[in-house]
Order: sequence, then structure tokens, then C-alpha cells
Amino acid sequence: MQIFSLAGELRRYVAERRKQGHRIALVPTMGNLHQGHYSLIELARQHADVVIASVFVNPTQFGPNEDFNRYPRTLEQDQLGLKQYSCDVLFAPAVDEIYPYGAEQGVRVEVPELGDILEGACRPGHFVGVATVVTKLFNLVMPDVAVFGQKDYQQLLVIRRLTRDLGLPIEIIAGPTLRESNGLARSSRNQYLSDVQRKTAAVIHQSLIGMAENVRAGITDFEKIETEARRLLEDAGLQPDYVVLRDSSDLANPVAGQNTRLVGLIAAKLGSTRLIDNILI
Ligand code: PAJ
Repeated sequence: MQIFSLAGELRRYVAERRKQGHRIALVPTMGNLHQGHYSLIELARQHADVVIASVFVNPTQFGPNEDFNRYPRTLEQDQLGLKQYSCDVLFAPAVDEIYPYGAEQGVRVEVPELGDILEGACRPGHFVGVATVVTKLFNLVMPDVAVFGQKDYQQLLVIRRLTRDLGLPIEIIAGPTLRESNGLARSSRNQYLSDVQRKTAAVIHQSLIGMAENVRAGITDFEKIETEARRLLEDAGLQPDYVVLRDSSDLANPVAGQNTRLVGLIAAKLGSTRLIDNILI
């Protein structure tokens, strides 16, 4: 596996591979890799000859009171894992390689509305940071395909929208959410949880399943479904930020009787750890 920390080196490598007619896939991550990330590497492999993973803890997508400083950085371990999953390239740049004018002064990419609701409302500026860094990575690599997890459903939609709106010729592929045996979605932030909290956190997935079952059973009072799921979370000691049913294509409020595909989305705090998950219905 090749390891680059400089954009120029990566660019030259990609240009060479492209000259050979190879298809390029990019899997952007913030590192501290787990099975969820590795499943995306495997999915990328099915769509490309060259699989590039980026590991970059992006400062601009963290709020001032969030966990940027204590976000787990495990580059050596990530490197070993990526090698095992036959990743071709690891791109692990420093902050000033990605933000030459500094994180505050740099150009920003904003996805209005879709980026302002739900996660965007709870974490102001978060999706500007995500959209900006992903656009930079896309420009740098110009991959044929890029792979993202359904785990971060709103992020996936934000990235699809920016790709289309900026006219980037990149196919966005979504990978399913990998879970612990109790249903808890795998996440780098799970390691902030105690053993007891990990068990408790399974209620998030259970609540989402409950919401999906209610929709499938034909219940059209969506507010009632949301309230019931919220109560399950609260009874287990979580503090939900949002528990919602939305149109899966644009996260608009669904209208009962319209035949749109729905997604259930939950964000909730357990102690000081904030967890998100979703279910496509
Ligand atoms: P990170 O949280 O490291 O996630 C990297 C990718 O892995 C994302 O596409 C995410 O949806 C996916 N992922 C996370 N947990 C998963 C799971 N349990 N199953 C399947 N896929 C999972 O998301 C980010 O980083 C950043 O916002 C990034 C897009 C890299 C921009 O900085």
C-alpha cells in the first residue's frame, strides 16, 4: 500500500494510474477505522481498480464545543487494517495541506436547506465543513466513484447533492450500516461508551425498527410514531435531539398517503456521547 501525506504526490500517483486506464475509487474517512469503514473499502473494490482511502480528522466539521481534540487518532492501526483489506493508497494529509489558508479563511462549500436541518440544526456549520472537505478531496483525486456509509444518511444526501450541483462526474455509492451484534451501529464514537452504555445504546436501533414496523403496519399518524420512539429512548435514559420520519430523497416532512420511501432518523445523547442512526423503510 502506498502512503501519501502530500496532495501533489497523490495527484501524480492518480494521474499515472489513470493513464493506464484504471478506474479510481475514493473512500473518505476520519480514521479510527472499524468494520463499517472496511466494508466500504471492500465495496469500493467492486467498483474500481484502485482504492484510495483518506484519513483526515477534518477540523471544520466540528463545532467549538465538540470532540475535535479528543477524536481518536490511530493512524498506525488504520494503516495495518487498510493493508489487510487490500487498499491501494492511504492519503493522510496534515491540516494545512487541506486548508492552505487556514481552516477559518478557506473557501467554503455550502448545501443550503438540506445541510441546515436535523444534524445541521443541532451542529451548526457541520455540513459546511463536510461539504467543503469532501469537495476538496474530490477535486484532488477526481475519482470515478466515491463510497459513503448509509450510517450518516443526511451526509450521504448532502454529498449526492453537491456532486450533482457542482457537476462533478463522480458516482456516489452507498454502503449499508454495519452493526454490533446488539444492533448498535458501529461508530468511532462508540469507544466513548462504557460497557453498560453500549448495551443501553441498542435501544436506538430498536426504536428505529419500531418506527419502521409502525409505518409498514399502515399507521399514518407519523407524529405518534415519532413520539412513541422518543419515549422508548427517554425511558432507557437517552436524551434525543431528534426522532423523525422523513422523505428519504430530500428529508422533507412526509405527507401520509403519498407513496414516497421514508427514512427514520435518530440522534440522541447517552451521557456525553452523541449517537446517530437511521433506517430506510
Ligand atoms: P467517518 O465518520 O470516519 O466515516 C467515514 C465513512 O464511513 C462515512 O461514509 C460513514 O458513513 C461510514 N461509516 C461510518 N460508520 C459506518 C458503519 N457502521 N457502517 C458503514 N459505514 C459506516 O463521515 C465521515 O468520517 C466524515 O464526515 C467524512 C465524510 C470523512 C468527511 O470528513
